Amino acid sequence: MSSRILDLVVLTSWLLVAPVCAAWADAEAVSGSLDSPGLYSQQRPSRDGIGKVYMGREISFVMGHRGIGWLERRERQQEERSDLVVEGMELAPDAVVADIGAGSGHFTFRISPRVPQGRVLAVDIQPEMLSVIEQRSRQGRFPNVEAVQGSVRDPNLEPTSVDAVLMVDAYHEFSHPREMMTSIVRALRPGGHVFLVEYRAEDPTVPILPLHKMTEEQARLEMEAVGLEFVENRRMLPQQHFLVFRKTESTDIYSRAPEANR
Ligand SMILES: C[S@@+](CC[C@H](N)C(=O)[O-])C[C@H]1O[C@@H](n2cnc3c(N)ncnc32)[C@H](O)[C@@H]1O
Repeated sequence: MSSRILDLVVLTSWLLVAPVCAAWADAEAVSGSLDSPGLYSQQRPSRDGIGKVYMGREISFVMGHRGIGWLERRERQQEERSDLVVEGMELAPDAVVADIGAGSGHFTFRISPRVPQGRVLAVDIQPEMLSVIEQRSRQGRFPNVEAVQGSVRDPNLEPTSVDAVLMVDAYHEFSHPREMMTSIVRALRPGGHVFLVEYRAEDPTVPILPLHKMTEEQARLEMEAVGLEFVENRRMLPQQHFLVFRKTESTDIYSRAPEANR
């Protein structure tokens, strides 16, 4: 079987099992949909969605931990140019980086050697993902990697404690995107950056289910809603946007008063 076909088989398999694997996470997502009236609405779920709508976008289901094989597929580095993502973050050696929705740590372990005097906080809501990260961290001796158990609303990071936040193929799954982003902004130091990497919804040739992709316009709308300043979209990846945002003085107002921008 060619690697391309094998890839499609693996992708199709995780897309089939993921809704089941993620049922526990989505149950809270749906039940939590009415706890912020005006922010979210509910509709009949699409095939790859949970039926909860935020700023005109239906939120996708969470990829379950059985999708690790797909996240760690051999061809990924070449297909997605993970190296360019990490390089593009231009990290200082002592930077504190939060990899939010870290999964099995595909990016966490590529960032770790770039910040020898810093730290990588690998945040996920699935304990199974965090166990894999902890195990890999011990085996590979990555002393600056720390696994952090997040909740669907909060990554559990200290206020103004991180220099950069990376979210690769994860944000579109957040069941409470406004609450998550408000907490993320609070955790960022002033001047800190958010790097948002999502498959390009504008490009029909990118072979990913619709709700697992985002347009630049939608991503900017949602990041600007929490006061982040758009810096640029670096058009350097084969299939994904590499969107850069910054926390400014005025962003801080949003993180202090999350209700203000409803
Ligand atoms: C498709 S995987 C991507 C993993 C990793 N970023 C990568 O590119 O290899 C998305 C991950 O986001 C996590 N996730 C979903 N909602 C989350 C939330 N609110 N907070 C933290 N992680 C979340 C899922 O558990 C899953 O591990």
